[in-house]
Amino acid sequence: MSDAPITESATAVLRGSGLLKSFRSDRIETPVLRGLSLEVLAGELTLVSGPSGCGKSTLLALLSGLLRPDAGEVEALGQSLWSLDDQALERFRLQHTGFVFQGFNLFGALSAVEQVMLPLGALGFTRKQARERALVALDEVGLGPRSGLRPAEMSGGEKQRVSIARALAKNPKLLFADEPTSALDAANGQMVIDLLHRLARSHGAAVLCVSHDPRVVAHADRVLHMEDGRLLDDTRLGALQG
Ligand SMILES: Nc1ncnc2c1ncn2[C@@H]1O[C@H](COP(=O)(O)OP(=O)(O)OP(=O)(O)O)[C@@H](O)[C@H]1O
Ligand SMILES: [Mg+2]
Repeated sequence: MSDAPITESATAVLRGSGLLKSFRSDRIETPVLRGLSLEVLAGELTLVSGPSGCGKSTLLALLSGLLRPDAGEVEALGQSLWSLDDQALERFRLQHTGFVFQGFNLFGALSAVEQVMLPLGALGFTRKQARERALVALDEVGLGPRSGLRPAEMSGGEKQRVSIARALAKNPKLLFADEPTSALDAANGQMVIDLLHRLARSHGAAVLCVSHDPRVVAHADRVLHMEDGRLLDDTRLGALQG
C-alpha cells in the first residue's frame, strides 16, 4: 500500500491521502478504499476508470465532502475538508464544488432557470443577480431559449445540460461528475463531455469524472485507473491532444 501522492504539482487543488473506507453490513466489513492517495490538478479533466464496484463513486463522495473517510485526509483548495464542522463543510461544498450525477438530480416542479438559480440564492445572490447568472450559464450550455422548461419537458441530454449549468453558474473550483453520460445517447453524451472539458479549460476548474464512456477517455487530460480500492495507474494524455 502506497501513501505517496502519485503526482506532484503546484496546481493540485484537491488532494486525498491515505484514504480508507469500509462498509459494514451484517457484521461483515467490506473494505472499499484501501489507502488511496491522489492529487487532482486545476484546469484539467481527470477521468477515474475501473470495474464496477471498485470504489469510484465512493472515492468521489469522500473527495467532495459527501462521505467521511474512516481514515486519511482530503485537502480541497488548501482546506482540510474533514476537519470542518457540518455547517462549514456544507458552506464549502455550496461555494466551491459542483456535482453532476448520472440521474441529473433536478426538481420536477422547477423550470431550468429556477433549478440553476437555487444554489445561487443560497450563496447570497439577489433574485435578480441569480436569474442573470443562471441565464448566462444556461446560454453557455446551449439552453438559453429553453430556460423556461421543466424536467418533464426536456430530453435526457437537456436535463444533464441543466445540471451542468447549475454547477457552472457557481463557477466552482472543483467539479465532480459521476457517470454523467451513461444515460445519454451518443450526440448528447458528446456534448456533455465537451462541456466538462471546457469547464476545466476556460473556467480553470479541476474536473474529476467517473466514466466508462470511451469518448470521455478520448477527451481526458489524465486517466486514473482504479481496481479493488486502489489506484493502479495514472496516465497523462496531454501529449496526444492539441
Ligand atoms: N452505502 C453503502 N453501504 C454498503 N456498501 C456500499 C455502500 N456504498 C457502496 N458500497 C459498496 O462499496 C463497493 C464500491 O462501491 P462504489 O459505488 O464506490 O463502486 P463503483 O466503482 O462506483 O461501481 P460502479 O461502476 O458500478 O458505479 C461496492 O461493493 C458497493 O456495494
Ligand atoms: Mg459508481
